[in-house]
Amino acid sequence: MSGLDDVIAAETMLSEVDGANGRLVICGYRLDELAGSKSYEEVLALLAGEVLPRGAALKTRLGMARLRAFAEVAWLDEAILALSITEGLRALMARLPDGEDADTALLLVAAPAVFVPALARRKAGQAAIAPDPALGHAADMLAMLKGKAPSKAEVEALDIYLVTVSDHGLNASTFAARVVASTRAGYTSAVLAALGALKGPLHGGAPGPVLDMLDAVGTPERANSWLTGELARGERLMGFGHRIYRVRDPRADALKGALTRLGAAGDMDADRVKLAEVVEREALALLRLKKPDRALDTNVEFFTALLLEALGFPRDAFTGVFAAGRVGGWLAHAHEQVANGRLIRPQSRYVGPKAA
Ligand code: ACO
Repeated sequence: MSGLDDVIAAETMLSEVDGANGRLVICGYRLDELAGSKSYEEVLALLAGEVLPRGAALKTRLGMARLRAFAEVAWLDEAILALSITEGLRALMARLPDGEDADTALLLVAAPAVFVPALARRKAGQAAIAPDPALGHAADMLAMLKGKAPSKAEVEALDIYLVTVSDHGLNASTFAARVVASTRAGYTSAVLAALGALKGPLHGGAPGPVLDMLDAVGTPERANSWLTGELARGERLMGFGHRIYRVRDPRADALKGALTRLGAAGDMDADRVKLAEVVEREALALLRLKKPDRALDTNVEFFTALLLEALGFPRDAFTGVFAAGRVGGWLAHAHEQVANGRLIRPQSRYVGPKAA
Protein backbone atom coordinates (compact mmCIF):
# COMPACT_ATOMS: atom_id res chain seq x y z
CA MET A 1 0.00 0.00 0.00
CA SER A 2 1.02 3.61 -0.46
CA GLY A 3 3.93 5.14 1.43
CA LEU A 4 2.68 8.55 0.20
CA ASP A 5 5.59 8.64 -2.31
CA ASP A 6 5.70 11.95 -4.21
CA VAL A 7 2.73 13.40 -2.29
CA ILE A 8 3.38 17.03 -1.30
CA ALA A 9 1.83 17.43 2.15
CA ALA A 10 3.37 20.75 3.27
CA GLU A 11 5.05 23.89 2.00
CA THR A 12 8.14 24.71 4.00
CA MET A 13 10.84 27.38 4.22
CA LEU A 14 13.05 25.00 6.22
CA SER A 15 14.79 22.45 4.02
CA GLU A 16 14.81 20.96 0.55
CA VAL A 17 15.87 17.41 -0.25
CA ASP A 18 16.87 17.03 -3.91
CA GLY A 19 16.94 13.28 -4.33
CA ALA A 20 18.01 13.25 -7.97
CA ASN A 21 21.11 15.37 -7.42
CA GLY A 22 21.95 14.35 -3.84
CA ARG A 23 21.58 17.87 -2.48
CA LEU A 24 20.24 19.01 0.90
CA VAL A 25 19.52 22.71 1.41
CA ILE A 26 18.71 23.98 4.92
CA CYS A 27 17.26 27.52 5.11
CA GLY A 28 19.00 28.51 1.89
CA TYR A 29 22.40 26.92 2.63
CA ARG A 30 23.74 23.69 1.13
CA LEU A 31 24.64 21.13 3.79
CA ASP A 32 28.31 21.25 2.78
CA GLU A 33 28.28 25.02 3.46
CA LEU A 34 26.90 24.47 6.97
CA ALA A 35 28.61 21.31 8.28
CA GLY A 36 31.93 22.29 9.82
CA SER A 37 31.43 26.05 9.48
CA LYS A 38 28.28 26.75 11.53
CA SER A 39 27.66 25.45 15.06
CA TYR A 40 24.50 23.57 15.97
CA GLU A 41 23.27 26.65 17.83
CA GLU A 42 23.74 28.77 14.68
CA VAL A 43 21.77 26.27 12.61
CA LEU A 44 19.07 26.15 15.30
CA ALA A 45 18.79 29.92 14.97
CA LEU A 46 18.36 29.56 11.21
CA LEU A 47 15.74 26.86 11.52
CA ALA A 48 13.78 27.89 14.58
CA GLY A 49 14.68 31.57 14.97
CA GLU A 50 10.99 32.47 15.13
CA VAL A 51 10.37 30.37 18.20
CA LEU A 52 13.79 30.33 19.95
CA PRO A 53 15.57 33.40 21.39
CA ARG A 54 17.76 35.22 18.87
CA GLY A 55 21.47 36.07 18.87
CA ALA A 56 23.79 35.42 21.82
CA ALA A 57 20.76 34.85 24.09
CA LEU A 58 20.17 31.51 22.37
CA LYS A 59 23.44 29.95 23.60
CA THR A 60 22.96 31.31 27.14
CA ARG A 61 19.33 30.30 27.45
CA LEU A 62 19.96 26.88 25.89
CA GLY A 63 22.64 26.30 28.54
CA MET A 64 20.14 27.24 31.25
CA ALA A 65 17.54 24.94 29.65
CA ARG A 66 20.03 22.05 29.88
CA LEU A 67 20.24 22.72 33.62
CA ARG A 68 16.43 22.70 33.83
CA ALA A 69 16.33 19.43 31.92
CA PHE A 70 18.91 17.92 34.28
CA ALA A 71 16.48 18.40 37.18
CA GLU A 72 14.29 15.81 35.43
CA VAL A 73 17.08 13.21 35.65
CA ALA A 74 16.06 12.82 39.32
CA TRP A 75 13.02 10.92 37.97
CA LEU A 76 15.24 8.33 36.34
CA ASP A 77 14.19 5.23 38.32
CA GLU A 78 14.78 1.49 37.93
CA ALA A 79 11.72 1.11 35.68
CA ILE A 80 13.15 3.64 33.21
CA LEU A 81 16.65 2.17 33.47
CA ALA A 82 15.23 -1.21 32.44
CA LEU A 83 14.16 0.32 29.10
CA SER A 84 16.38 0.93 26.07
CA ILE A 85 17.93 4.41 25.97
CA THR A 86 15.46 5.51 23.26
CA GLU A 87 12.52 4.26 25.33
CA GLY A 88 13.97 5.89 28.45
CA LEU A 89 14.36 9.16 26.53
CA ARG A 90 10.74 8.90 25.43
CA ALA A 91 9.63 8.33 29.06
CA LEU A 92 11.59 11.33 30.40
CA MET A 93 10.50 13.62 27.56
CA ALA A 94 6.85 12.66 28.18
CA ARG A 95 7.07 14.31 31.61
CA LEU A 96 7.79 17.74 30.11
CA PRO A 97 4.92 20.25 29.95
CA ASP A 98 3.28 21.13 26.64
CA GLY A 99 3.33 24.64 25.21
CA GLU A 100 3.96 26.60 22.01
CA ASP A 101 6.41 29.14 23.48
CA ALA A 102 10.18 29.74 23.59
CA ASP A 103 10.68 28.14 27.03
CA THR A 104 9.00 24.92 25.94
CA ALA A 105 11.06 24.91 22.73
CA LEU A 106 14.36 25.50 24.58
CA LEU A 107 13.61 22.73 27.07
CA LEU A 108 12.79 20.34 24.23
CA VAL A 109 16.09 21.11 22.44
CA ALA A 110 17.99 20.69 25.71
CA ALA A 111 16.24 17.51 26.86
CA PRO A 112 17.69 14.82 24.54
CA ALA A 113 21.20 16.31 24.85
CA VAL A 114 20.93 15.92 28.65
CA PHE A 115 18.83 12.77 28.95
CA VAL A 116 20.80 10.59 26.51
CA PRO A 117 24.20 10.94 28.30
CA ALA A 118 22.46 10.58 31.70
CA LEU A 119 20.68 7.41 30.58
CA ALA A 120 23.86 6.00 29.03
CA ARG A 121 25.87 6.60 32.21
CA ARG A 122 23.20 5.41 34.64
CA LYS A 123 22.63 2.24 32.61
CA ALA A 124 26.39 1.62 32.80
CA GLY A 125 26.26 1.99 36.61
CA GLN A 126 27.81 5.48 36.63
CA ALA A 127 26.45 8.72 38.10
CA ALA A 128 24.83 11.22 35.74
CA ILE A 129 26.88 14.40 35.20
CA ALA A 130 25.31 17.85 35.40
CA PRO A 131 25.55 20.14 32.37
CA ASP A 132 27.84 23.16 32.21
CA PRO A 133 25.69 25.95 30.75
CA ALA A 134 28.80 27.88 29.68
CA LEU A 135 29.77 25.20 27.14
CA GLY A 136 28.47 24.86 23.59
CA HIS A 137 25.71 22.31 23.11
CA ALA A 138 27.89 19.60 21.49
CA ALA A 139 30.77 20.08 23.94
CA ASP A 140 28.43 19.85 26.92
CA MET A 141 26.73 16.74 25.58
CA LEU A 142 30.11 14.99 25.27
CA ALA A 143 31.27 16.23 28.70
CA MET A 144 28.06 14.83 30.24
CA LEU A 145 28.72 11.50 28.50
CA LYS A 146 32.42 11.15 29.25
CA GLY A 147 32.76 12.86 32.62
CA LYS A 148 35.76 14.82 31.31
CA ALA A 149 36.45 17.55 28.78
CA PRO A 150 36.20 16.17 25.22
CA SER A 151 38.91 16.90 22.63
CA LYS A 152 38.44 19.71 20.11
CA ALA A 153 38.17 17.14 17.31
CA GLU A 154 35.44 15.26 19.17
CA VAL A 155 33.42 18.44 19.76
CA GLU A 156 33.74 19.41 16.09
CA ALA A 157 32.65 15.93 15.01
CA LEU A 158 29.51 15.95 17.19
CA ASP A 159 28.69 19.51 16.15
CA ILE A 160 28.92 18.45 12.48
CA TYR A 161 26.70 15.46 13.23
CA LEU A 162 24.00 17.55 14.97
CA VAL A 163 24.03 20.08 12.11
CA THR A 164 23.94 17.32 9.48
CA VAL A 165 20.80 15.67 10.88
CA SER A 166 19.07 18.89 12.01
CA ASP A 167 16.43 18.88 9.28
CA HIS A 168 15.54 16.81 6.23
CA GLY A 169 12.29 17.74 4.50
CA LEU A 170 9.15 15.83 5.32
CA ASN A 171 10.74 12.64 6.66
CA ALA A 172 8.53 10.27 8.70
CA SER A 173 9.31 11.78 12.12
CA THR A 174 8.93 15.38 10.93
CA PHE A 175 5.61 14.52 9.28
CA ALA A 176 4.48 12.97 12.58
CA ALA A 177 5.49 16.18 14.40
CA ARG A 178 3.55 18.31 11.91
CA VAL A 179 0.41 16.15 12.19
CA VAL A 180 0.38 16.47 15.99
CA ALA A 181 1.31 20.18 15.93
CA SER A 182 -1.58 20.78 13.52
CA THR A 183 -4.04 19.67 16.23
CA ARG A 184 -2.56 22.41 18.49
CA ALA A 185 -1.59 19.74 21.08
CA GLY A 186 1.67 21.59 21.79
CA TYR A 187 5.35 21.19 20.93
CA THR A 188 6.12 18.48 23.50
CA SER A 189 3.38 16.23 22.12
CA ALA A 190 4.63 16.92 18.58
CA VAL A 191 8.23 16.05 19.52
CA LEU A 192 7.11 12.88 21.32
CA ALA A 193 5.23 11.72 18.22
CA ALA A 194 8.33 12.42 16.15
CA LEU A 195 10.55 10.50 18.56
CA GLY A 196 8.25 7.49 18.26
CA ALA A 197 8.54 7.59 14.47
CA LEU A 198 12.30 8.09 14.58
CA LYS A 199 12.82 4.95 16.68
CA GLY A 200 12.01 2.47 13.91
CA PRO A 201 14.85 0.73 12.04
CA LEU A 202 13.57 2.02 8.69
CA HIS A 203 14.20 5.57 9.96
CA GLY A 204 16.45 6.63 12.87
CA GLY A 205 16.82 3.19 14.43
CA ALA A 206 19.21 1.96 11.74
CA PRO A 207 22.70 2.99 13.00
CA GLY A 208 22.83 0.55 15.94
CA PRO A 209 22.10 -2.34 13.55
CA VAL A 210 24.84 -1.00 11.21
CA LEU A 211 27.37 -1.75 13.96
CA ASP A 212 25.71 -5.13 14.62
CA MET A 213 26.31 -5.83 10.92
CA LEU A 214 29.99 -4.81 11.11
CA ASP A 215 30.43 -7.01 14.19
CA ALA A 216 28.77 -9.95 12.48
CA VAL A 217 30.96 -9.51 9.37
CA GLY A 218 34.02 -9.44 11.63
CA THR A 219 36.83 -9.15 9.07
CA PRO A 220 37.04 -7.58 5.58
CA GLU A 221 37.56 -11.02 3.97
CA ARG A 222 34.14 -12.19 5.21
CA ALA A 223 32.23 -9.13 3.97
CA ASN A 224 31.12 -10.49 0.59
CA SER A 225 29.89 -13.87 1.81
CA TRP A 226 28.11 -12.43 4.86
CA LEU A 227 26.33 -9.71 2.89
CA THR A 228 25.42 -12.17 0.10
CA GLY A 229 23.86 -14.47 2.70
CA GLU A 230 21.81 -11.64 4.22
CA LEU A 231 20.45 -10.54 0.85
CA ALA A 232 19.69 -14.15 -0.12
CA ARG A 233 17.58 -14.41 3.05
CA GLY A 234 15.68 -11.29 1.98
CA GLU A 235 17.19 -9.11 4.71
CA ARG A 236 17.81 -5.38 4.18
CA LEU A 237 21.32 -4.03 4.61
CA MET A 238 21.18 -1.30 7.24
CA GLY A 239 22.67 2.03 6.22
CA PHE A 240 21.78 1.66 2.53
CA GLY A 241 18.83 2.89 0.46
CA HIS A 242 16.60 5.91 0.81
CA ARG A 243 13.08 6.88 -0.19
CA ILE A 244 14.14 10.16 -1.83
CA TYR A 245 17.83 9.92 -2.74
CA ARG A 246 18.62 8.15 -5.97
CA VAL A 247 22.30 9.01 -5.57
CA ARG A 248 24.54 9.11 -2.53
CA ASP A 249 22.98 10.78 0.54
CA PRO A 250 24.91 14.09 0.94
CA ARG A 251 24.74 13.63 4.71
CA ALA A 252 26.83 10.47 4.35
CA ASP A 253 29.60 12.59 2.79
CA ALA A 254 29.38 15.26 5.51
CA LEU A 255 29.78 12.59 8.19
CA LYS A 256 32.52 10.77 6.30
CA GLY A 257 34.41 14.10 6.29
CA ALA A 258 33.95 14.41 10.06
CA LEU A 259 35.19 10.85 10.49
CA THR A 260 38.28 11.55 8.41
CA ARG A 261 39.04 14.55 10.65
CA LEU A 262 38.56 12.44 13.77
CA GLY A 263 40.88 9.83 12.28
CA ALA A 264 43.52 12.48 11.59
CA ALA A 265 43.28 13.51 15.26
CA GLY A 266 43.93 9.87 16.25
CA ASP A 267 40.40 9.33 17.63
CA MET A 268 39.37 6.51 15.24
CA ASP A 269 40.05 2.78 15.27
CA ALA A 270 41.83 2.19 11.93
CA ASP A 271 40.70 -1.47 11.70
CA ARG A 272 37.07 -0.43 12.15
CA VAL A 273 37.40 2.14 9.35
CA LYS A 274 39.00 -0.43 7.01
CA LEU A 275 36.24 -2.96 7.73
CA ALA A 276 33.54 -0.32 7.15
CA GLU A 277 35.11 0.73 3.82
CA VAL A 278 35.13 -2.86 2.56
CA VAL A 279 31.57 -3.54 3.79
CA GLU A 280 30.35 -0.36 2.09
CA ARG A 281 32.08 -1.24 -1.20
CA GLU A 282 30.82 -4.85 -1.22
CA ALA A 283 27.30 -3.87 -0.16
CA LEU A 284 26.99 -1.28 -2.93
CA ALA A 285 28.17 -3.80 -5.54
CA LEU A 286 25.74 -6.48 -4.30
CA LEU A 287 22.80 -4.04 -4.06
CA ARG A 288 23.49 -2.90 -7.63
CA LEU A 289 23.25 -6.55 -8.77
CA LYS A 290 20.11 -7.17 -6.70
CA LYS A 291 18.25 -4.03 -7.77
CA PRO A 292 19.79 -2.73 -11.02
CA ASP A 293 16.69 -0.59 -11.67
CA ARG A 294 16.71 1.11 -8.26
CA ALA A 295 19.78 3.07 -7.21
CA LEU A 296 20.50 1.95 -3.64
CA ASP A 297 23.35 3.95 -2.16
CA THR A 298 24.88 4.65 1.26
CA ASN A 299 22.62 6.65 3.57
CA VAL A 300 23.35 8.87 6.58
CA GLU A 301 23.02 6.04 9.08
CA PHE A 302 26.06 4.10 7.85
CA PHE A 303 28.53 6.83 8.84
CA THR A 304 26.43 7.91 11.82
CA ALA A 305 27.13 4.50 13.34
CA LEU A 306 30.90 4.85 12.92
CA LEU A 307 30.99 8.46 14.09
CA LEU A 308 28.88 8.00 17.22
CA GLU A 309 30.80 4.84 18.13
CA ALA A 310 34.10 6.73 17.82
CA LEU A 311 32.71 9.48 20.05
CA GLY A 312 32.01 6.93 22.79
CA PHE A 313 28.20 6.70 22.63
CA PRO A 314 26.87 3.18 23.26
CA ARG A 315 24.98 1.92 20.20
CA ASP A 316 21.73 1.89 22.17
CA ALA A 317 22.10 5.69 22.40
CA PHE A 318 22.45 6.40 18.67
CA THR A 319 18.75 7.09 18.00
CA GLY A 320 18.67 9.45 20.99
CA VAL A 321 21.69 11.38 19.67
CA PHE A 322 19.90 11.60 16.31
CA ALA A 323 16.91 13.05 18.20
CA ALA A 324 19.22 15.60 19.88
CA GLY A 325 20.01 16.98 16.41
CA ARG A 326 16.65 16.50 14.66
CA VAL A 327 14.68 18.09 17.52
CA GLY A 328 15.59 21.50 16.05
CA GLY A 329 13.93 20.55 12.76
CA TRP A 330 10.90 19.02 14.49
CA LEU A 331 10.31 22.23 16.45
CA ALA A 332 10.80 24.44 13.41
CA HIS A 333 8.28 22.36 11.44
CA ALA A 334 5.83 22.29 14.37
CA HIS A 335 6.06 26.08 14.58
CA GLU A 336 5.68 26.48 10.81
CA GLN A 337 2.63 24.19 10.86
CA VAL A 338 1.00 26.13 13.71
CA ALA A 339 1.80 29.50 12.12
CA ASN A 340 0.76 28.75 8.53
CA GLY A 341 -1.02 25.41 8.35
CA ARG A 342 -4.39 23.87 9.00
CA LEU A 343 -5.39 20.66 10.77
CA ILE A 344 -3.83 17.78 8.82
CA ARG A 345 -6.64 15.36 8.13
CA PRO A 346 -6.29 13.20 4.99
CA GLN A 347 -8.84 10.64 3.84
CA SER A 348 -8.72 6.88 3.47
CA ARG A 349 -10.54 4.74 0.91
CA TYR A 350 -12.73 2.09 2.54
CA VAL A 351 -12.08 -1.35 1.03
CA GLY A 352 -13.71 -3.45 3.81
CA PRO A 353 -16.92 -5.46 3.70
CA LYS A 354 -20.09 -3.61 2.69
CA ALA A 355 -22.72 -3.02 5.35
CA ALA A 356 -26.09 -4.71 4.84
N1 ACO B 1 18.93 -3.57 1.53
C1 ACO B 1 18.36 -4.46 0.68
N2 ACO B 1 17.33 -4.16 -0.12
C2 ACO B 1 16.82 -2.93 -0.04
C3 ACO B 1 17.37 -1.96 0.82
C4 ACO B 1 18.45 -2.31 1.63
N3 ACO B 1 19.01 -1.46 2.48
N4 ACO B 1 16.66 -0.81 0.69
C5 ACO B 1 15.70 -1.05 -0.22
N5 ACO B 1 15.81 -2.33 -0.66
C6 ACO B 1 14.97 -2.98 -1.65
C7 ACO B 1 13.65 -3.45 -1.00
O1 ACO B 1 13.77 -4.75 -0.49
C8 ACO B 1 12.68 -3.35 -2.13
O2 ACO B 1 12.79 -4.50 -2.91
P1 ACO B 1 11.46 -5.20 -3.56
O3 ACO B 1 10.91 -4.16 -4.49
O4 ACO B 1 12.00 -6.41 -4.25
O5 ACO B 1 10.54 -5.49 -2.41
C9 ACO B 1 13.20 -2.16 -2.95
O6 ACO B 1 14.59 -2.02 -2.64
C10 ACO B 1 12.50 -0.87 -2.64
O7 ACO B 1 12.36 -0.78 -1.22
P2 ACO B 1 11.27 0.15 -0.51
O8 ACO B 1 11.10 -0.33 0.88
O9 ACO B 1 10.06 0.36 -1.37
O10 ACO B 1 12.02 1.51 -0.54
P3 ACO B 1 11.74 2.70 0.42
O11 ACO B 1 11.92 3.90 -0.37
O12 ACO B 1 10.47 2.60 1.14
O13 ACO B 1 12.91 2.40 1.45
C11 ACO B 1 14.33 2.58 3.27
C12 ACO B 1 13.70 3.33 2.07
C13 ACO B 1 13.23 2.21 4.25
C14 ACO B 1 15.33 3.53 3.94
C15 ACO B 1 15.06 1.29 2.77
O14 ACO B 1 16.04 1.62 1.79
C16 ACO B 1 15.67 0.50 3.91
O15 ACO B 1 14.95 -0.31 4.54
N6 ACO B 1 17.01 0.67 4.20
C17 ACO B 1 17.63 -0.01 5.32
C18 ACO B 1 17.31 0.68 6.63
C19 ACO B 1 18.02 2.03 6.76
O16 ACO B 1 19.19 2.19 6.39
N7 ACO B 1 17.28 3.00 7.30
C20 ACO B 1 17.78 4.39 7.50
C21 ACO B 1 17.25 5.30 6.43
S1 ACO B 1 17.93 6.92 6.53
C22 ACO B 1 16.96 7.75 7.64
O17 ACO B 1 15.80 7.47 7.84
C23 ACO B 1 17.57 8.80 8.44
